[in-house]
Amino acid sequence: MNRKILITGGAGFIGSHVIRRFVGKYPGYQVVNADKLTYAGNLENLADIDSSPNYVFEKCDIVDKQAVAGLFAKYGFDGVIHLAAESHVDRSITAPDEFVLTNVVGTLNLLNAAREAWKDGYEGKLFYHVSTDEVYGSLGADGFFTEDTAYDPRSPYSASKAGSDHMVMAWHHTFGLPVVISNCSNNYGPNQFPEKLIPLVINNIKHSAPLPVYGKGENIRDWLYVEDHAAAIDTLFHHGKSGETYNVGGNNEWKNIDLIRLLCRIMDRKLNRTEGTSEKLISFVKDRPGHDMRYAIDSSKLQKELGWSPIPDFAVGLEKTVDWYLSNAAWLERVISGEYGQYYDMMYGNR
Ligand code: NAD
Ligand code: DAU
Repeated sequence: MNRKILITGGAGFIGSHVIRRFVGKYPGYQVVNADKLTYAGNLENLADIDSSPNYVFEKCDIVDKQAVAGLFAKYGFDGVIHLAAESHVDRSITAPDEFVLTNVVGTLNLLNAAREAWKDGYEGKLFYHVSTDEVYGSLGADGFFTEDTAYDPRSPYSASKAGSDHMVMAWHHTFGLPVVISNCSNNYGPNQFPEKLIPLVINNIKHSAPLPVYGKGENIRDWLYVEDHAAAIDTLFHHGKSGETYNVGGNNEWKNIDLIRLLCRIMDRKLNRTEGTSEKLISFVKDRPGHDMRYAIDSSKLQKELGWSPIPDFAVGLEKTVDWYLSNAAWLERVISGEYGQYYDMMYGNR
Protein backbone atom coordinates (compact mmCIF):
# COMPACT_ATOMS: atom_id res chain seq x y z
CA MET A 1 0.00 0.00 0.00
CA ASN A 2 1.25 3.51 -0.77
CA ARG A 3 1.22 5.98 2.08
CA LYS A 4 2.46 9.49 2.75
CA ILE A 5 3.92 9.81 6.21
CA LEU A 6 5.17 12.83 8.11
CA ILE A 7 7.90 11.94 10.61
CA THR A 8 8.86 14.87 12.83
CA GLY A 9 12.27 15.08 14.50
CA GLY A 10 13.77 12.60 12.04
CA ALA A 11 17.25 14.15 12.22
CA GLY A 12 17.51 13.38 15.93
CA PHE A 13 18.62 10.23 17.70
CA ILE A 14 15.51 8.01 17.68
CA GLY A 15 13.92 9.73 14.68
CA SER A 16 16.88 8.88 12.43
CA HIS A 17 16.54 5.18 13.27
CA VAL A 18 12.79 5.33 12.60
CA ILE A 19 13.33 7.09 9.24
CA ARG A 20 15.98 4.57 8.17
CA ARG A 21 13.68 1.67 9.05
CA PHE A 22 10.63 3.09 7.23
CA VAL A 23 12.52 4.25 4.13
CA GLY A 24 14.23 0.86 3.74
CA LYS A 25 11.33 -1.41 4.66
CA TYR A 26 8.47 0.41 2.92
CA PRO A 27 9.59 1.54 -0.56
CA GLY A 28 5.93 2.35 -1.39
CA TYR A 29 5.71 4.95 1.36
CA GLN A 30 6.74 8.54 0.86
CA VAL A 31 8.54 9.51 4.08
CA VAL A 32 8.80 13.23 4.82
CA ASN A 33 11.19 14.17 7.61
CA ALA A 34 10.30 17.57 9.13
CA ASP A 35 12.96 18.84 11.49
CA LYS A 36 14.09 22.26 12.72
CA LEU A 37 17.70 21.04 13.03
CA THR A 38 18.30 22.28 16.56
CA TYR A 39 21.61 21.43 18.24
CA ALA A 40 20.23 17.85 18.52
CA GLY A 41 19.26 17.49 14.87
CA ASN A 42 21.94 16.23 12.52
CA LEU A 43 21.36 15.30 8.88
CA GLU A 44 24.62 13.36 8.94
CA ASN A 45 22.62 10.74 10.87
CA LEU A 46 20.73 10.02 7.63
CA ALA A 47 23.56 10.38 5.09
CA ASP A 48 23.20 6.73 4.02
CA ILE A 49 19.54 7.09 2.95
CA ASP A 50 19.12 10.74 2.00
CA SER A 51 19.12 10.08 -1.74
CA SER A 52 16.43 7.38 -1.50
CA PRO A 53 13.53 8.15 -3.88
CA ASN A 54 10.91 7.70 -1.13
CA TYR A 55 12.58 10.13 1.32
CA VAL A 56 12.27 13.93 1.55
CA PHE A 57 13.70 16.34 4.11
CA GLU A 58 11.84 19.55 5.02
CA LYS A 59 13.43 22.03 7.42
CA CYS A 60 10.49 23.06 9.58
CA ASP A 61 9.92 24.45 13.06
CA ILE A 62 6.74 22.82 14.41
CA VAL A 63 6.15 25.90 16.57
CA ASP A 64 5.42 27.78 13.34
CA LYS A 65 1.79 26.87 12.67
CA GLN A 66 1.72 28.22 9.10
CA ALA A 67 4.76 26.14 8.22
CA VAL A 68 3.13 23.01 9.69
CA ALA A 69 -0.17 23.63 7.85
CA GLY A 70 1.82 24.25 4.65
CA LEU A 71 3.48 20.84 4.92
CA PHE A 72 0.12 19.08 5.23
CA ALA A 73 -1.20 21.02 2.22
CA LYS A 74 1.90 20.21 0.16
CA TYR A 75 2.05 16.46 0.79
CA GLY A 76 -1.44 15.27 1.84
CA PHE A 77 -0.18 13.02 4.63
CA ASP A 78 -2.28 10.09 5.82
CA GLY A 79 -0.07 9.35 8.81
CA VAL A 80 2.06 11.25 11.31
CA ILE A 81 4.77 9.87 13.58
CA HIS A 82 5.60 12.72 15.93
CA LEU A 83 9.03 12.57 17.58
CA ALA A 84 10.24 16.18 17.40
CA ALA A 85 10.88 17.49 20.89
CA GLU A 86 13.29 19.13 23.21
CA SER A 87 14.40 15.95 24.95
CA HIS A 88 17.08 16.59 27.58
CA VAL A 89 15.95 16.87 31.23
CA ASP A 90 18.99 18.94 32.33
CA ARG A 91 18.37 21.55 29.62
CA SER A 92 14.71 21.74 30.67
CA ILE A 93 15.88 22.75 34.15
CA THR A 94 18.14 25.55 32.94
CA ALA A 95 15.86 26.76 30.07
CA PRO A 96 12.28 25.43 30.29
CA ASP A 97 10.54 27.80 27.84
CA GLU A 98 11.72 26.07 24.67
CA PHE A 99 10.30 22.80 26.04
CA VAL A 100 6.81 24.25 26.38
CA LEU A 101 7.02 25.82 22.93
CA THR A 102 8.23 22.79 21.01
CA ASN A 103 6.70 19.98 23.04
CA VAL A 104 3.31 21.55 23.83
CA VAL A 105 2.67 24.26 21.22
CA GLY A 106 4.42 22.27 18.48
CA THR A 107 2.23 19.25 19.21
CA LEU A 108 -0.87 21.48 19.23
CA ASN A 109 0.03 22.80 15.78
CA LEU A 110 0.44 19.28 14.41
CA LEU A 111 -2.86 18.11 15.93
CA ASN A 112 -4.72 21.09 14.47
CA ALA A 113 -3.12 20.64 11.06
CA ALA A 114 -3.99 16.91 11.01
CA ARG A 115 -7.57 17.61 12.06
CA GLU A 116 -7.98 20.24 9.34
CA ALA A 117 -6.33 18.10 6.66
CA TRP A 118 -8.46 15.06 7.55
CA LYS A 119 -11.77 16.87 8.02
CA ASP A 120 -13.45 14.87 5.23
CA GLY A 121 -12.91 11.58 7.04
CA TYR A 122 -10.49 9.81 9.34
CA GLU A 123 -10.51 6.46 7.50
CA GLY A 124 -6.91 5.24 7.00
CA LYS A 125 -5.44 8.14 8.98
CA LEU A 126 -3.33 8.03 12.16
CA PHE A 127 -1.57 10.53 14.42
CA TYR A 128 1.07 8.59 16.38
CA HIS A 129 2.67 10.49 19.26
CA VAL A 130 5.99 9.24 20.65
CA SER A 131 6.29 9.95 24.36
CA THR A 132 8.24 8.98 27.44
CA ASP A 133 7.88 6.96 30.63
CA GLU A 134 8.94 10.10 32.55
CA VAL A 135 5.32 11.32 32.46
CA TYR A 136 4.58 8.73 35.16
CA GLY A 137 7.02 10.31 37.63
CA SER A 138 9.33 8.30 39.87
CA LEU A 139 9.06 4.76 41.29
CA GLY A 140 10.26 3.49 44.66
CA ALA A 141 12.15 0.21 44.97
CA ASP A 142 9.24 -1.92 43.70
CA GLY A 143 6.62 -1.90 40.97
CA PHE A 144 6.44 -0.92 37.31
CA PHE A 145 4.79 1.79 35.22
CA THR A 146 1.74 0.38 33.43
CA GLU A 147 -0.55 2.15 30.98
CA ASP A 148 -2.90 2.80 33.95
CA THR A 149 -0.29 4.51 36.15
CA ALA A 150 -1.41 8.07 36.95
CA TYR A 151 0.63 10.85 35.36
CA ASP A 152 2.96 12.59 37.83
CA PRO A 153 5.58 14.51 35.81
CA ARG A 154 8.28 16.16 37.93
CA SER A 155 10.66 17.96 35.56
CA PRO A 156 9.87 20.73 33.04
CA TYR A 157 10.68 18.19 30.29
CA SER A 158 8.31 15.51 31.57
CA ALA A 159 5.61 18.10 32.34
CA SER A 160 5.78 19.33 28.75
CA LYS A 161 5.60 15.76 27.41
CA ALA A 162 2.68 14.98 29.75
CA GLY A 163 0.91 18.11 28.47
CA SER A 164 1.37 16.97 24.89
CA ASP A 165 0.12 13.44 25.69
CA HIS A 166 -3.03 14.89 27.28
CA MET A 167 -3.69 17.07 24.25
CA VAL A 168 -3.29 14.13 21.87
CA MET A 169 -5.84 12.14 23.89
CA ALA A 170 -8.14 15.17 24.15
CA TRP A 171 -8.09 15.58 20.34
CA HIS A 172 -9.08 11.91 20.11
CA HIS A 173 -11.97 12.11 22.58
CA THR A 174 -13.24 15.55 21.56
CA PHE A 175 -12.65 15.58 17.80
CA GLY A 176 -12.41 11.86 17.02
CA LEU A 177 -8.82 12.13 15.71
CA PRO A 178 -7.35 8.62 15.38
CA VAL A 179 -4.32 8.54 17.68
CA VAL A 180 -1.83 6.16 19.28
CA ILE A 181 0.61 7.12 22.05
CA SER A 182 3.62 5.16 23.23
CA ASN A 183 5.58 5.86 26.41
CA CYS A 184 9.10 4.50 26.26
CA SER A 185 11.97 4.06 28.69
CA ASN A 186 15.59 5.25 28.21
CA ASN A 187 17.00 4.54 24.75
CA TYR A 188 20.65 3.95 23.94
CA GLY A 189 22.57 3.22 20.73
CA PRO A 190 24.30 4.91 17.79
CA ASN A 191 23.71 8.61 16.97
CA GLN A 192 22.67 9.74 20.47
CA PHE A 193 23.80 13.26 21.31
CA PRO A 194 26.55 13.08 23.98
CA GLU A 195 24.60 15.15 26.51
CA LYS A 196 22.83 11.89 27.51
CA LEU A 197 24.46 9.52 29.98
CA ILE A 198 25.79 6.65 27.83
CA PRO A 199 27.40 8.62 24.96
CA LEU A 200 28.64 11.24 27.44
CA VAL A 201 30.45 8.57 29.46
CA ILE A 202 31.89 6.93 26.32
CA ASN A 203 33.12 10.29 25.02
CA ASN A 204 34.63 11.32 28.37
CA ILE A 205 36.43 8.01 28.86
CA LYS A 206 37.84 8.35 25.35
CA HIS A 207 39.23 11.78 26.28
CA SER A 208 40.23 10.68 29.83
CA ALA A 209 37.87 13.32 31.26
CA PRO A 210 35.95 13.03 34.58
CA LEU A 211 32.75 10.95 34.51
CA PRO A 212 30.08 13.06 36.27
CA VAL A 213 27.80 10.85 38.39
CA TYR A 214 24.80 12.74 39.77
CA GLY A 215 24.26 12.27 43.52
CA LYS A 216 25.27 8.79 44.66
CA GLY A 217 24.64 7.17 41.29
CA GLU A 218 21.84 5.08 42.76
CA ASN A 219 19.08 6.22 40.40
CA ILE A 220 17.75 3.44 38.19
CA ARG A 221 16.84 3.54 34.50
CA ASP A 222 15.38 0.84 32.20
CA TRP A 223 17.52 0.79 29.03
CA LEU A 224 16.23 -0.14 25.58
CA TYR A 225 18.26 -0.42 22.36
CA VAL A 226 17.11 2.30 19.96
CA GLU A 227 16.40 -0.13 17.11
CA ASP A 228 14.03 -2.02 19.39
CA HIS A 229 12.17 1.24 19.95
CA ALA A 230 12.06 1.85 16.18
CA ALA A 231 10.65 -1.67 15.74
CA ALA A 232 7.99 -0.96 18.39
CA ILE A 233 7.07 2.30 16.60
CA ASP A 234 6.75 0.37 13.31
CA THR A 235 4.48 -2.22 14.99
CA LEU A 236 2.35 0.41 16.71
CA PHE A 237 2.02 2.64 13.66
CA HIS A 238 0.61 -0.30 11.69
CA HIS A 239 -1.26 -2.29 14.35
CA GLY A 240 -1.82 -0.06 17.41
CA LYS A 241 -5.46 0.48 18.40
CA SER A 242 -6.69 4.04 18.01
CA GLY A 243 -7.21 5.82 21.32
CA GLU A 244 -4.80 3.51 23.16
CA THR A 245 -1.46 4.06 24.85
CA TYR A 246 1.30 1.44 24.95
CA ASN A 247 4.33 1.24 27.21
CA VAL A 248 7.67 0.30 25.61
CA GLY A 249 10.64 -0.79 27.74
CA GLY A 250 13.69 -2.98 27.89
CA ASN A 251 12.95 -4.87 31.13
CA ASN A 252 16.56 -3.96 31.78
CA GLU A 253 17.06 -1.93 34.96
CA TRP A 254 20.47 -0.57 35.86
CA LYS A 255 21.69 1.63 38.69
CA ASN A 256 23.61 4.49 37.05
CA ILE A 257 26.83 3.72 38.92
CA ASP A 258 26.75 0.02 37.91
CA LEU A 259 26.14 0.96 34.28
CA ILE A 260 29.00 3.48 34.34
CA ARG A 261 31.36 0.87 35.85
CA LEU A 262 30.34 -1.61 33.15
CA LEU A 263 31.08 1.00 30.46
CA CYS A 264 34.46 1.64 32.10
CA ARG A 265 35.36 -2.06 31.82
CA ILE A 266 34.22 -2.29 28.19
CA MET A 267 36.14 0.87 27.26
CA ASP A 268 39.34 -0.26 29.03
CA ARG A 269 39.21 -3.46 26.97
CA LYS A 270 38.44 -1.68 23.67
CA LEU A 271 41.12 0.98 24.19
CA ASN A 272 43.71 -1.50 25.45
CA ARG A 273 43.98 0.32 28.77
CA THR A 274 44.78 -1.50 32.01
CA GLU A 275 41.61 -2.66 33.77
CA GLY A 276 40.57 -0.03 36.34
CA THR A 277 41.94 2.95 34.40
CA SER A 278 38.55 4.39 33.43
CA GLU A 279 36.94 3.80 36.85
CA LYS A 280 39.43 6.25 38.32
CA LEU A 281 37.69 8.97 36.25
CA ILE A 282 34.40 8.55 38.16
CA SER A 283 33.49 11.81 39.89
CA PHE A 284 30.41 12.17 42.13
CA VAL A 285 28.86 15.60 41.47
CA LYS A 286 25.90 17.66 42.68
CA ASP A 287 22.61 15.90 42.02
CA ARG A 288 20.09 16.90 39.34
CA PRO A 289 17.26 18.89 41.03
CA GLY A 290 14.09 16.78 41.31
CA HIS A 291 16.03 13.73 40.07
CA ASP A 292 13.56 10.85 39.53
CA MET A 293 14.79 7.81 41.46
CA ARG A 294 13.63 4.87 39.38
CA TYR A 295 11.92 4.15 36.06
CA ALA A 296 10.76 0.64 35.16
CA ILE A 297 8.32 -0.23 32.41
CA ASP A 298 5.78 -3.01 32.18
CA SER A 299 5.50 -3.51 28.40
CA SER A 300 3.36 -6.67 28.59
CA LYS A 301 0.43 -5.03 26.74
CA LEU A 302 2.59 -4.38 23.64
CA GLN A 303 4.26 -7.79 23.95
CA LYS A 304 1.03 -9.79 24.38
CA GLU A 305 -1.27 -7.88 22.04
CA LEU A 306 1.15 -7.09 19.21
CA GLY A 307 4.01 -9.56 19.62
CA TRP A 308 6.84 -7.01 20.02
CA SER A 309 9.81 -7.85 22.23
CA PRO A 310 13.20 -6.24 22.93
CA ILE A 311 16.66 -7.73 22.33
CA PRO A 312 17.27 -9.80 25.45
CA ASP A 313 20.99 -9.17 25.75
CA PHE A 314 22.09 -5.73 27.02
CA ALA A 315 25.77 -6.72 26.81
CA VAL A 316 25.45 -7.15 23.03
CA GLY A 317 23.63 -3.82 22.57
CA LEU A 318 26.15 -1.96 24.71
CA GLU A 319 29.16 -3.46 22.89
CA LYS A 320 27.58 -2.51 19.54
CA THR A 321 27.01 1.01 20.86
CA VAL A 322 30.57 1.46 22.15
CA ASP A 323 31.94 0.10 18.85
CA TRP A 324 29.79 2.58 16.90
CA TYR A 325 31.08 5.62 18.85
CA LEU A 326 34.69 4.44 18.58
CA SER A 327 34.49 3.78 14.86
CA ASN A 328 32.56 7.01 14.14
CA ALA A 329 35.09 9.33 15.73
CA ALA A 330 34.52 12.01 13.05
CA TRP A 331 30.76 12.09 13.86
CA LEU A 332 31.49 12.43 17.56
CA GLU A 333 34.15 15.12 17.13
CA ARG A 334 31.88 17.19 14.84
CA VAL A 335 28.97 16.91 17.26
CA ILE A 336 31.04 18.07 20.24
CA SER A 337 32.76 20.85 18.30
CA GLY A 338 29.73 23.22 18.19
CA GLU A 339 27.80 24.70 21.12
CA TYR A 340 28.51 21.51 23.09
CA GLY A 341 31.62 22.99 24.74
CA GLN A 342 29.65 25.94 26.16
CA TYR A 343 26.83 23.64 27.26
CA TYR A 344 29.31 21.28 28.93
CA ASP A 345 31.06 24.10 30.83
CA MET A 346 27.71 25.53 31.96
CA MET A 347 26.44 22.11 33.12
CA TYR A 348 29.54 20.62 34.68
CA GLY A 349 31.85 23.57 35.32
CA ASN A 350 30.76 24.23 38.92
CA ARG A 351 29.53 20.83 40.04
P1 NAD B 1 16.68 14.24 20.14
O1 NAD B 1 16.82 15.41 21.05
O2 NAD B 1 17.85 13.41 19.80
O3 NAD B 1 16.03 14.72 18.75
C1 NAD B 1 14.97 15.64 18.69
C2 NAD B 1 14.81 16.10 17.25
O4 NAD B 1 13.71 17.03 17.21
C3 NAD B 1 16.04 16.84 16.70
O5 NAD B 1 16.34 16.38 15.41
C4 NAD B 1 15.60 18.30 16.68
O6 NAD B 1 16.24 19.06 15.68
C5 NAD B 1 14.11 18.16 16.46
N1 NAD B 1 13.36 19.34 16.94
C6 NAD B 1 13.48 19.93 18.17
N2 NAD B 1 12.67 21.02 18.22
C7 NAD B 1 12.02 21.08 17.04
C8 NAD B 1 11.04 21.96 16.50
N3 NAD B 1 10.59 23.02 17.19
N4 NAD B 1 10.56 21.72 15.26
C9 NAD B 1 11.03 20.67 14.53
N5 NAD B 1 11.97 19.82 14.98
C10 NAD B 1 12.45 20.02 16.22
O7 NAD B 1 15.52 13.37 20.80
P2 NAD B 1 15.34 11.78 20.88
O8 NAD B 1 16.07 11.27 22.05
O9 NAD B 1 15.57 11.20 19.55
O10 NAD B 1 13.77 11.69 21.25
C11 NAD B 1 12.80 11.68 20.21
C12 NAD B 1 11.42 11.59 20.85
O11 NAD B 1 11.33 10.41 21.63
C13 NAD B 1 11.09 12.75 21.79
O12 NAD B 1 9.74 13.08 21.61
C14 NAD B 1 11.34 12.18 23.18
O13 NAD B 1 10.52 12.82 24.13
C15 NAD B 1 10.94 10.73 22.96
N6 NAD B 1 11.62 9.76 23.85
C16 NAD B 1 12.98 9.74 23.96
C17 NAD B 1 13.60 8.77 24.76
C18 NAD B 1 15.10 8.70 24.90
O14 NAD B 1 15.59 7.91 25.71
N7 NAD B 1 15.89 9.44 24.13
C19 NAD B 1 12.81 7.83 25.44
C20 NAD B 1 11.42 7.90 25.32
C21 NAD B 1 10.84 8.85 24.50
O1 DAU C 1 13.04 7.63 30.35
C1 DAU C 1 13.00 8.18 29.06
C2 DAU C 1 13.82 9.45 29.03
O2 DAU C 1 15.18 9.06 29.14
C3 DAU C 1 13.60 10.28 27.78
O3 DAU C 1 12.27 10.73 27.75
C4 DAU C 1 14.55 11.48 27.75
O4 DAU C 1 14.39 12.17 26.53
C5 DAU C 1 15.96 10.97 27.86
O5 DAU C 1 16.86 12.05 27.92
C6 DAU C 1 16.14 10.09 29.11
O6 DAU C 1 16.04 10.90 30.32
P1 DAU C 1 17.07 10.68 31.56
O7 DAU C 1 17.10 11.92 32.34
O8 DAU C 1 16.77 9.40 32.26
O9 DAU C 1 18.43 10.45 30.70
P2 DAU C 1 19.94 11.00 30.93
O10 DAU C 1 20.78 10.28 29.93
O11 DAU C 1 19.98 12.48 30.96
O12 DAU C 1 20.30 10.48 32.38
C7 DAU C 1 20.24 9.09 32.70
C8 DAU C 1 20.56 8.97 34.18
O13 DAU C 1 21.96 9.30 34.39
C9 DAU C 1 19.79 9.90 35.08
O14 DAU C 1 19.51 9.26 36.31
C10 DAU C 1 20.74 11.08 35.32
C11 DAU C 1 22.11 10.41 35.29
N1 DAU C 1 23.21 11.24 34.77
C12 DAU C 1 23.05 11.85 33.56
C13 DAU C 1 24.07 12.62 33.02
C14 DAU C 1 23.88 13.31 31.69
C15 DAU C 1 24.41 11.35 35.48
O15 DAU C 1 24.56 10.76 36.57
N2 DAU C 1 25.41 12.11 34.94
C16 DAU C 1 25.29 12.76 33.75
O16 DAU C 1 26.24 13.47 33.34
